Amino acid sequence: MTKKLFIKTWGCQMNVYDSTRMVDVLAPLGYRPVDEPDGADMVILNTCHIREKAAEKVFSELGRLRQMKDRKAEAEDGRMILAVAGCVAQAEGEEIVARAPFVDMVFGPQTYHTLPEMVAKASRAAGSVLNTDFPAESKFDLLPEESGAQGVAAFLAVQEGCDKFCTFCVVPYTRGAEFSRPAGQILAEAKRLVAGGTREITLLGQNVNAWHGDGPDGATWGLGRLIRELAEIDGLARIRYTTSHPRDMADDLIRAHAEVPQLMPYLHLPVQAGSDRVLAAMNRKHSADDYRRLVDRLRDAKPDLAMSGDFIVGFPGETDADFAQTLKLVTEIGYAQAYSFKYSVRPGTPASAEGAQLPEEVKEARLEALRQLLDAQQVAFNHGFVGRSVPVLFDRVGRRDGQLLGRSPWMQSVHAEADERLLGRIVEVRVDAARANSLAGTVVTTETTTGEYVTASPFQPAVTLEASA
Ligand code: 5AD
Ligand code: SF4
Repeated sequence: MTKKLFIKTWGCQMNVYDSTRMVDVLAPLGYRPVDEPDGADMVILNTCHIREKAAEKVFSELGRLRQMKDRKAEAEDGRMILAVAGCVAQAEGEEIVARAPFVDMVFGPQTYHTLPEMVAKASRAAGSVLNTDFPAESKFDLLPEESGAQGVAAFLAVQEGCDKFCTFCVVPYTRGAEFSRPAGQILAEAKRLVAGGTREITLLGQNVNAWHGDGPDGATWGLGRLIRELAEIDGLARIRYTTSHPRDMADDLIRAHAEVPQLMPYLHLPVQAGSDRVLAAMNRKHSADDYRRLVDRLRDAKPDLAMSGDFIVGFPGETDADFAQTLKLVTEIGYAQAYSFKYSVRPGTPASAEGAQLPEEVKEARLEALRQLLDAQQVAFNHGFVGRSVPVLFDRVGRRDGQLLGRSPWMQSVHAEADERLLGRIVEVRVDAARANSLAGTVVTTETTTGEYVTASPFQPAVTLEASA
């Protein structure tokens, strides 16, 4: 009998990947994903603990789900197994069990390969099953193969956890120590994805460029080498990786940007702040100038590389002068897109114990100023594409009839009127309009007599990135 499974995912792409793997683990038990929680036999909240707000949302969602669970029981329609997974479960497992005893399972990111046992326990007994171990075995060795096609653009986790211990960050505590999956396992998963129709793979890790492993040839590989091997897979058109730490940007990985055409010209490389004093207090292990030099080297290797990043404003003790250094760095680098956050106190992290926490208004004003600058850069970046043709990998149908959505090499969302036969194809699209978050264009293809689509002219990359100030 098939059972309905609803998973809601917050946070990073690693959580999105984990959710797809939970579907794979639960498939042999008869669970099939559905689009809404009402009436589901199992609801999993896959949670994020990175900032305070992310965790708060979980408790408000649980209130709503409790009513659905009660309604299902009253209607004698079976039991809804309610689960909290992910990083909030890892960090606040006991509190969830105490505050929300109607939750049946609470489990951390390293344990979901044991879901069948947890489900069996939860079905038998009253009370919550709590599992926040960091087991000695790796879940990656024990997870089943993917249960179905993973889509045109898919994620592949290659690395997990973090040993960097930035003083603001919960990741080393919720995801544990840095761990790299073996190269052979990754290559096998990538080949299965491509055989199932995937054309673009994004390699995932909290510190993805720290990935290292023994290659099948006995040598130690870094991420650059892994990317070169992945590029040999026939049919894999695009490779991306996220998220990287400046300290782990090895020479060979930089060279891969110059030498591997499948490696897309977009890099998420968080710097967090522009002041060396703040960077030191954050334990980032690099200066602002280290970052500037690194971006210069990357752009020497790949002149059209679009930069993305993460920023925290209002870190404890950050002065106006420190913050001005962040604005200066952003102006110099020129970002195609970036994320910015107000510093959020995370219990248990070193920065949370700092005395000099800043007032909310100061954080708010700095965030606003930084966002204005980043938004202006993003708009300028996108407007630079109008009138130009870009190769778009269509990976989804759009909201409007007859529209497909895809991505440019530089990660922009592009939508265009296009036949569904173009899903999974890389098609040249002329950009007609740029919005803050997307591009709109027209497919520049001709249909041959055999119904094949071919691009009308070869693609010429001609993008220069300039800071908008
Ligand atoms: N407060 C605000 N932002 C944070 N991040 C991580 N921890 C915190 C925190 N305590 C941001 C960082 C990181 C991104 C994933 O989230 O910028 O790169
Ligand atoms: Fe957190 Fe720093 Fe590790 Fe990134 S590098 S996951 S910000 S501790």
